[in-house]
Amino acid sequence: MGRYLVIGNPVGHSVSPIIHNTIFKYLGLPYEYETKRVYKCELKEFVTNFVSNGGYGFNVTVPHKRKVMDYVDGLSLESRIIGAVNTVCVKSGMLFGYNTDAEGFIRQLKSDNIRIENSRVKLIGAGGAARAVAYALHKNGARTIKIYNRTFERAKEVCNMIGEKVYAHTLSEFTADYCDILINTTSIGLYPDIDSSPVENLDDLLPHTAVVDIIYNPSKTKFLKMAESKGNAVYNGLKMLIYQGMLANDLWINRNTVESKALFDEIMKNIKRELRNEKHH
Ligand code: ATR
Repeated sequence: MGRYLVIGNPVGHSVSPIIHNTIFKYLGLPYEYETKRVYKCELKEFVTNFVSNGGYGFNVTVPHKRKVMDYVDGLSLESRIIGAVNTVCVKSGMLFGYNTDAEGFIRQLKSDNIRIENSRVKLIGAGGAARAVAYALHKNGARTIKIYNRTFERAKEVCNMIGEKVYAHTLSEFTADYCDILINTTSIGLYPDIDSSPVENLDDLLPHTAVVDIIYNPSKTKFLKMAESKGNAVYNGLKMLIYQGMLANDLWINRNTVESKALFDEIMKNIKRELRNEKHH
């Protein structure tokens, strides 16, 4: 078994190995990062045996981000609030769960000069990704966060998690107006479903609104194309993906690689090459 892994199902198309193997190579570290398909019924056994099998750390993806919390020895405050773990570290033989999606998202917005403080945000979706994004925006000073979700109850749950300044709506109530940042956190539009969008139109979009989709494959979703056709600035989720990976790796090896622009660019280059090779666009 590899020392570092991403577990999930499916994991075949994960680009996490590119991120982490690029970092290890860049730093000259003799580690390898692999994907491992883990079914739901295998999760508990995988986690409880991870240390005795010689593992150093792992990432967690769909569908285990929530359930894995039951099997680790400790949780970061953030992962506990968000209710999802994407990174697990081994410290003194014990397992600790973290969530680097939230910080990864903030780093992406900052690198694109999108101002969070005092911003009015509309967020589509209320799953694990939405929870991390909403938490991060709230923590970084967003003025209001309106959450639009097909299932109202789930949007309400996100509001309960965060508290003030966050409001729940059903997706059918969505209009694109009066916001500074608009974000899709659902998987609608993800390859190969490239002709779908979480909302029918963005007719009311104001010209200054920054439109973000956390999907990175395709590089421009239908949702982003709709916004771009109105002349708005659009951003996919590739930077968030890279930052969450660098932050996870930093937790494992106790470094601060996330500040390295050269390493970030190297990872970006390698991911883009891989996505081109897979012809997912
Ligand atoms: P993740 O952890 O990746 O966010 P998730 O927890 O399964 O994944 O959440 C998926 C999100 O996409 C949810 O907000 C979901 O809406 P529901 O809460 O109503 O299920 C949303 N979603 C998925 N498919 C959808 C669809 N066809 N129409 C509208 N929303 C959809």
